Amino acid sequence: MAKRALVTGGAGLIGSHVVDLLVHEGWRVRALDNLELQTHRRGRPAWINENAEFMEGDLRDHGIITAALDNVDMIFHQAAYGGYMPEITKFVHVNSLGTAQMLEVIREKNLSIEKIIVASSQAVYSEGAGDCPKHDLVFPSVRPIEQLRRGDWQVHCPFCGAITKSVPTPENAPVGGETVYGLTKVDQERLVLLWGKQVGIPTVALRYACTYGPRQSIFNPYTGVIAIFCTRLLNKLPPVLYEDGEQTRDFSFVEDIARANLLAAETDKLDGLAVNIGSGIGIPIREIAEQLSSILKIKIAPEINGEFRPGEMRHLTSDTTVARTAGYRPNVDLSEGIARYIDWIRTQGGIRDYFSEAREILRNKRIVHRVAR
Ligand SMILES: NC(=O)c1ccc[n+]([C@@H]2O[C@H](COP(=O)([O-])OP(=O)(O)OC[C@H]3O[C@@H](n4cnc5c(N)ncnc54)[C@H](O)[C@@H]3O)[C@@H](O)[C@H]2O)c1
Ligand SMILES: [Zn+2]
Repeated sequence: MAKRALVTGGAGLIGSHVVDLLVHEGWRVRALDNLELQTHRRGRPAWINENAEFMEGDLRDHGIITAALDNVDMIFHQAAYGGYMPEITKFVHVNSLGTAQMLEVIREKNLSIEKIIVASSQAVYSEGAGDCPKHDLVFPSVRPIEQLRRGDWQVHCPFCGAITKSVPTPENAPVGGETVYGLTKVDQERLVLLWGKQVGIPTVALRYACTYGPRQSIFNPYTGVIAIFCTRLLNKLPPVLYEDGEQTRDFSFVEDIARANLLAAETDKLDGLAVNIGSGIGIPIREIAEQLSSILKIKIAPEINGEFRPGEMRHLTSDTTVARTAGYRPNVDLSEGIARYIDWIRTQGGIRDYFSEAREILRNKRIVHRVAR
């Protein structure tokens, strides 16, 4: 019999690709999504798979999540409030409480769920791992705000203060989260993993690196660097680089992330684990801006104006050994992925810049700071 899945956040970037892949693989799929306004400003997106059941609703609604969980074998929990938004309670409410309540409903109803896969994030780490000339592999803490105010962007060794070189971060690096979003991703991941062990339901937390690709919201100025830079350039505005633009991130094409979800569902090798999913390659953010400007043929230099976001890590490259051992291989490299994103964004029409307005909010709410002169 076909497996039955619930994909929460099934209209979003990652959730919708998980839905498509599962439908393609012959699963019976239900997608739950409240079409969060900031992400879906034009309402229900055209890409919702016709061969899946779509439930529009908020996972925080007890009745809705109860109905969504009816008759499913596996849960792909992708819904979350994510990014550098200034809210505090909403992150906790959607991500932490929403996940806790979903688990409680499973217990209340004694549902026979075979596995839960929860979308976690690289945001659970404080800072990427570093290599110190004296101490080798170190796990530095978040850079203090006083250091950033001086315009010192480097990551220093916690023992001797030497400048460290970024190296891939393994799953056993300390987690905690340095933003409200990061903290609630830790909540989600730990709630699902520890509860699964308690009740004997296999669970997997996938710590995604920066994910991008077709369907990434062109309306949300708080998350998704590739989408934000593209919408800026298409509006003839410069992409804004925080710090000096040399910070690095690990990028994953969304179809690879969907395949990681299917793998986690099908193998038992990842059960009970929090697993990094990424490319294993660190790319400077400045290079992303340059690549986009070159492919779009819009020659606008990025803006660097001494702004930074406290709590943001300097470097993060995922150590993907665990995922690879279980058979994970990303298929789409960054240049192909960016080309496919740009092909898609060109079909969207009416690309507006939402970043300028968000920028003021981020400054006023003290999410974005500026170096002291
Ligand atoms: N995109 C990335 O770079 C990235 C990186 C690491 C982790 N993640 C995680 O992956 C998951 C999916 O992210 P995404 O990039 O697809 O984001 P997205 O915003 O495109 O998708 C999230 C979806 O969840 C829905 N949603 C939000 N709140 C909801 C609620 N209360 N009830 C029902 N639906 C709700 C939204 O409408 C949206 O369609 C999230 O858990 C996110 O934290 C994403
Ligand atoms: Zn050292």
